[in-house]
Amino acid sequence: MGLWPEWQWNEIQQVGTDYTDVAEVQRYESRMQQFRDLAAEDQAILAELNLPPNARVLEIGTGTGHFARTAARAGCTVVALDVSPVMLEYAASRAREENLTSIEFRHAGFLTFSCPPASFDAAVSVAVLHHLPDLWKAVALHRVHEVLKPGGRFLLRDVVFSWEGGNHAAAFDGFVNGLPTSMRTEAARHIAKEYSTLDWIMHGLLERAGFNVLRAERTQASFVHYLCEKAD
Ligand SMILES: C[S@@+](CC[C@H](N)C(=O)[O-])C[C@H]1O[C@@H](n2cnc3c(N)ncnc32)[C@H](O)[C@@H]1O
Repeated sequence: MGLWPEWQWNEIQQVGTDYTDVAEVQRYESRMQQFRDLAAEDQAILAELNLPPNARVLEIGTGTGHFARTAARAGCTVVALDVSPVMLEYAASRAREENLTSIEFRHAGFLTFSCPPASFDAAVSVAVLHHLPDLWKAVALHRVHEVLKPGGRFLLRDVVFSWEGGNHAAAFDGFVNGLPTSMRTEAARHIAKEYSTLDWIMHGLLERAGFNVLRAERTQASFVHYLCEKAD
């Protein structure tokens, strides 16, 4: 952090779940498969991005790299970012096993990647933005907007809360109890220690960053799926 201003958020530090823990990384994909159909999810995201042939795609917070591999198999060139070197090494080894050479794995995140403006046809980020407080979500979304080509799509999916009449406890209990038992401790830690925000704040942040929100759909376990587009 030495070269950065004193006010810069350190996104490399792990918040909540520690994705630099080798055991956590090895467990991650099988844990996710308990409540996500990753293959179907990744194919559906790819279809929504409306990509041209040989598209360049940015993935922020690639984790084990399952989406990046799906996009590479479909002919895309992918820049896949993560702040955890352990996750990146795991993702890179999975890509090597498949001889996928069109994914560039980079140790960087929303606030630290360096890419030319308007250099990607699309961007994707799933279950990552809640690692940043809202102030820094705003900065992150502006940075993603900047590197997209006009008309480029951004698929954002994350845990985003909503409640009526101030009943936050019901919303939080619903989130925790809606997950498999093996994930409930982590879900409670997510609420207590991470930075998931409210749906109306997220919507505003996306629009203020310059995106048209084409679709916002609440899916499972408090996940909201935002399909956004940078205006032409
Ligand atoms: C819950 S995992 C999601 C992984 C993958 N996107 C998925 O859907 O399976 C969160 C990932 O985001 C990474 N991460 C955390 N903060 C980040 C940031 N500011 N920029 C990029 N990646 C970040 C973590 O290291 C971790 O690999």
